[in-house]
Amino acid sequence: MCGIIARIGETDDAVDELLVGLENLEYRGYDSAGLAVKNGRGPTVFKREGQISNLKDLLANEVPSGELGIGHTRWSTHGPPTDENAHPHTGCSDRVAVVHNGIIENHDALRTELSERGHYFKSDTDTEVIPHLVEEHLADGATPEQAFRRTVQRLSGSYAIAMLVDESDAIYATRSGSPLVLGVREGKYYLASDVPAFLDFTDEVIFLDDGDVVVLEPGHHEITTLDGEPIERPTQTIDWDPEDAGKGAYDHYMLKEIHEQPTSLRQTLRGRADPVTGDIHLEDFPPGTFEDVERVQFVACGTSYHAGLVGSNFIGSRGLPSQTFLASEYAVSRPPVDENTLVIGVTQSGETADTLAALREAKDGGARTLAVTNVVGSTAARECDDALFIRAGPEIGVAATKTFSSQVVSLSLLGERLVRDVVGHRSEGITDVLSALSDLPDHVQQILDYSKAHRIAKQYHDSEAYFFIGRGSVFPVALEGALKFKEISYEHAEGFAAGELKHGPLALVTPATPVFAVFTGRHDQKTLSNVKEVEARGAPVVAVTSDANEAVVQHANDVLTIPETHPDVAGILANVQLQLLSYHAAEQLDRPIDKPRNLAKSVTVE
Ligand code: F6R
Repeated sequence: MCGIIARIGETDDAVDELLVGLENLEYRGYDSAGLAVKNGRGPTVFKREGQISNLKDLLANEVPSGELGIGHTRWSTHGPPTDENAHPHTGCSDRVAVVHNGIIENHDALRTELSERGHYFKSDTDTEVIPHLVEEHLADGATPEQAFRRTVQRLSGSYAIAMLVDESDAIYATRSGSPLVLGVREGKYYLASDVPAFLDFTDEVIFLDDGDVVVLEPGHHEITTLDGEPIERPTQTIDWDPEDAGKGAYDHYMLKEIHEQPTSLRQTLRGRADPVTGDIHLEDFPPGTFEDVERVQFVACGTSYHAGLVGSNFIGSRGLPSQTFLASEYAVSRPPVDENTLVIGVTQSGETADTLAALREAKDGGARTLAVTNVVGSTAARECDDALFIRAGPEIGVAATKTFSSQVVSLSLLGERLVRDVVGHRSEGITDVLSALSDLPDHVQQILDYSKAHRIAKQYHDSEAYFFIGRGSVFPVALEGALKFKEISYEHAEGFAAGELKHGPLALVTPATPVFAVFTGRHDQKTLSNVKEVEARGAPVVAVTSDANEAVVQHANDVLTIPETHPDVAGILANVQLQLLSYHAAEQLDRPIDKPRNLAKSVTVE
């Protein structure tokens, strides 16, 4: 959802570092890319429609030198992906260059006003009003910093902005509703939408808050409020390895991240659960933390919504009222909440605008809020009353994979903490669940070593549509399997509750529509009946199940095998098989797996 990067230092290699940053941010948008650099005079702007490789081609003959610069990778909201609409944007002259992530809601009014005063616009973007406004303030005699502050005061909407001006060798930046973090390294500074953008250069980070204004000069930074009041923000060290954020030997980030799951799941689980004693240790949530909670509501989008559905199934089946809502719907029609309602925002990035809006709605209604997120310092983590980190490590592929698995594990542990605090006792059979969770990393490794997903993707590659079914705790896995499949293969895929097929979707089932049926060892007979209904219509059935489930194995045309485990954990394993299936289907169709069309990793607009 657009990525911005800025860099200032005492060496003139800003462009090299900006390009690295842009490549690390490309998962946020890849409609166009651009940068502006200053070298004595300037700023000089270079920008191109399409992927960052196009921008690199533009710079291939001569990389401009400069000590400071700003860059942008775009996911279009206002105006099609063209060279003109690419960032950075300038005003009528080239004195001011601006990159922006977010939406300026009052841009129409500002554009009309500026046009009436003679400004000429070159792009269709909302962003372009910013350099024109700055230009006017400079012409009125304001310093660059005053011009920046006065401009920001005129903006409404969400934004993270970085600016260069001819008159000074500083970078000016601010954020409101869109992410912006500051990286610090011996006289150099980086600003970016996300930490992995500059992880190659520094792991020292200052998380900025909405309303912060940052002025960067080599070796010096100043953070103030929009009114100029100084603000102290702590520097934190991030423990993500830059290697984690690279593609390594894999063809795609998605495949790398699928294969990282044994490691990421170990990180998620480390020190948090003891399968022998049944104890749960969740850093900030000791026993009793949730005594006052009477009901739980999950809010989330996409894959995280599916993880939320698994979470509410886990909690609800253990006696604590729990529901999951699509965040975008919750934000416009919130169910009743009170101070005994815990609203859990599940969000990998912690920056999804719909989820943030739902959490703010919940807070306004008096609910207690908790973020389950992968990103320390993210907006969700900071705005909620509490945060639980899933510790999956950076996820770059647009399709969420390892974070789903870590979300489900985290929600199971959090769910058990909640049940103990509210219902008053450990849930029945919990040591078996914890034991299955501790086996999970090894079980996922077995799937990665022996999966037949590649062969099955090939076998069914020219099907008309792909259906996924599951019941109970794996209904969300059917939804997730279909989302992943359609998202990266562009083939028609739908997920259904197994029992719902006969209430309508069965009309779509033909010999050309394979059905992937997920089994857990619970409710299997009922799901098997649904499989028979499908087979009677000639559709091939691929069961995702353990070999121990003989009745199912004998019945299915093909099997994607998972190790035998607890029914509450089987869905995570089944989902790994479905991740591999989607990956191989998309690979065989030669799709751009890490950058599916029209999508971006972090969706920071509602
Ligand atoms: C799908 C996918 C998206 C995200 C959704 C929420 O593979 O990644 O559906 O799950 O945009 O994102 P977060 O979890 O960052 O709030």
